[in-house]
Amino acid sequence: MAIIVCPKCAKKHKVNLDTVKENAPLGKKIAARCKSCGHKFPVQLDQFINQEKEKSYEPKTSTRKICVTLSKGGVGKTTTSVNLCAGLALAGHKVLLVDTDTQGQSSYILGKKPRAGLTELLTKELAPEECIVRARKNLWLLSGGKSLAGVKRIIDRKSFGAEWTLSEAMKELDHRYDFIIIDTAPGWDQLIVNVLFYSTEVLVPVALEVMPLQGLAEFMKSLGSIQKYRKEIKLKYIVPTFMDTRIKGPETIYSQLKKLYPEYMCNPIRYSESLSEAPSYGKSIFEFAPGCTASADYKDLVRKVTLDESALL
Ligand SMILES: Nc1ncnc2c1ncn2[C@@H]1O[C@H](COP(=O)(O)OP(=O)(O)OP(=O)(O)O)[C@@H](O)[C@H]1O
Ligand SMILES: [Mg+2]
Repeated sequence: MAIIVCPKCAKKHKVNLDTVKENAPLGKKIAARCKSCGHKFPVQLDQFINQEKEKSYEPKTSTRKICVTLSKGGVGKTTTSVNLCAGLALAGHKVLLVDTDTQGQSSYILGKKPRAGLTELLTKELAPEECIVRARKNLWLLSGGKSLAGVKRIIDRKSFGAEWTLSEAMKELDHRYDFIIIDTAPGWDQLIVNVLFYSTEVLVPVALEVMPLQGLAEFMKSLGSIQKYRKEIKLKYIVPTFMDTRIKGPETIYSQLKKLYPEYMCNPIRYSESLSEAPSYGKSIFEFAPGCTASADYKDLVRKVTLDESALL
């Protein structure tokens, strides 16, 4: 299956590649007509075949561990973690959201009050399955909260191997999910170092509001120092957040980011009141305002992360 976008009206069409391949040999263009606006345009088939190849390189059996992190506060880490998880789950993937923040907001956003969470897993007070709650179909939560402060002190006091504490605790859970998304607190501490020793991919939300470039450059330095000891951790996605198209500033910052980090850039998440309202109803953006711009933007992020252009269409 491929997605062909009409260059005139931007409508996306699902196309069965097998049927098209029969009528159009590789290297040749075919004429397509948009069912929505009637516009006729040429399509080169090869690019879609390459997309399919790229997808098939993704091992389906292994878990992808993506942490959502940036030292700067209030940039949309938790909002992105929760809605990315909700979108991946809606697209049919098995997802675990791990909240490593003492603020413990993800359970609030998902409308859950778990009795246990990451603290009990790290202290081995409870068995892994007792620490997890099912938040939605396909979506499970390992919640954070105030009690994590005590765990941080325990990690700090370890004389060796402190940075592997989370990885060791998560071992039993790793293979059960397609995606494990880890939300982190602002700042930089031992727990975040643990997250970077556990994850394999990094997603950085960058608020297009105030001077984000310096914070990002500082984070890149810190990530570089971790990569010296842990080669598997890679920056994969930079997600611009709070994109307000009514004013010029965010557009300018977005263009700068695109120039500086073209390989990691994702489409921006637009500024949306619905995103700040949804948490008080215990709902993801797809449940609270499925038709809003932010819902469309997070769906787009799901497609980018899964390399599945037809996800959630
Ligand atoms: N695109 C957006 N449009 C409007 N409001 C947003 C958007 N993204 C996030 N918000 C709101 O901004 C606030 C901060 O977002 P969020 O809590 O996700 O940031 P954070 O990086 O996790 O913060 P912290 O560093 O404190 O953990 C929240 O109230 C959230 O609802
Ligand atoms: Mg947060």
